[in-house]
Amino acid sequence: MQTLSVDLGDRSYPIFIGSGLLQQARLQPYIKGNQVMLVSNTTVAPLYRELVCKGLSQIDVDEVILPDGEAYKDMQHLNLIFDQLLARRHNRTTTLIALGGGVIGDMTGFAAACYQRGVNFIQLPTTLLSQVDSSVGGKTGVNHPAGKNMIGAFHQPVAVVADTAVLQTLPDTELSAGLAEVIKYGLIYDADFFAWLESNVQALRNKDEQALAYAIYRSCEIKAELVALDERESGVRALLNLGHTFGHAIETHAGYGQWLHGEAVAAGTVMAADLSCRLGWISRADVDRIERLFKAAGLPVKPPKDMTPEQFCTLMSVDKKVMDGRLRLVLLKAIGQAVVTAEFEQAALMQTLNGGV
Ligand SMILES: NC(=O)c1ccc[n+]([C@@H]2O[C@H](COP(=O)([O-])OP(=O)(O)OC[C@H]3O[C@@H](n4cnc5c(N)ncnc54)[C@H](O)[C@@H]3O)[C@@H](O)[C@H]2O)c1
Ligand SMILES: [Zn+2]
Repeated sequence: MQTLSVDLGDRSYPIFIGSGLLQQARLQPYIKGNQVMLVSNTTVAPLYRELVCKGLSQIDVDEVILPDGEAYKDMQHLNLIFDQLLARRHNRTTTLIALGGGVIGDMTGFAAACYQRGVNFIQLPTTLLSQVDSSVGGKTGVNHPAGKNMIGAFHQPVAVVADTAVLQTLPDTELSAGLAEVIKYGLIYDADFFAWLESNVQALRNKDEQALAYAIYRSCEIKAELVALDERESGVRALLNLGHTFGHAIETHAGYGQWLHGEAVAAGTVMAADLSCRLGWISRADVDRIERLFKAAGLPVKPPKDMTPEQFCTLMSVDKKVMDGRLRLVLLKAIGQAVVTAEFEQAALMQTLNGGV
């Protein structure tokens, strides 16, 4: 097992990474009272809730099992968690446990941020995306019909346990979607890690647990570093959004659920790389390298064919990163080095949106 720490003063917490960790009852030290509310969904609960409950044998575990899907990441289903907490008379020393992917993690974290003005929660992420990204950093929330993740709070967990063994049951498309974020870390921060991914992408897709553990470790390490520097995303944390402005536009255009988030991020990142190349910052050979790695990871590298530059512009102008009316993008100065900038020529952006025409 490997351990990392997210250093945030008195809100610091450990991330444990390894095979079979859910079985090893690592949660007890992070539960302060004698009440626990396990939150999961109808897909993950039948697979792993027994394992988690076995490790908590001294405690009466209550649970909420939500329907599976992004469509249920809303206020109505969040309320089911509050209903159960109140019905079972949970007090301020209760601990919420999120067992599932990013949807369950975000909702449980937000419920923990709000319930009695804030209670503890533990993340047990079960998708690659949630193990490398959403379980770390304390962003929690739900969707509103007018926008994704628009209702939320910063609330850090007290511990994150990433068990690589649970990834064996994860569908391949979901694994690939998680790899998009892993590749992102290499691109923004660590050229050596990017090169390691080029050599190990097949092992990762084959769910080799050692390769997965290293990829998760390095990804969390990079995210933890950026979060510790900038918890509330007023600066350097924004680099984590590489490919996301283009990607969110693709997700919205296609309709939520049509493209997985990681798939949209992959195509969006290739667009960001293409624009960086047009600005003369990286070479065409770098762009090709990036495209090859996403393809090898089983991810799309082009936006939907029916999506026009005008549609991109409209959708991108509502992005959260637009400040003072200027579109800011995360772009690449090199493989392993990203910047947030509004300093790019509109004409170059239009060429990228036109697919190079
Ligand atoms: N908080 C953050 O910083 C942050 C960062 C990135 C993404 N997110 C959020 O995360 C969500 C996406 O997360 P996700 O990609 O994990 O999707 P998800 O939670 O919907 O999980 C994907 C699918 O895999 C299933 N699943 C999960 N674990 C499994 C397992 N071990 N075996 C078999 N099936 C399993 C789920 O039931 C679901 O059907 C989005 O809502 C996004 O907004 C949050
Ligand atoms: Zn993302």
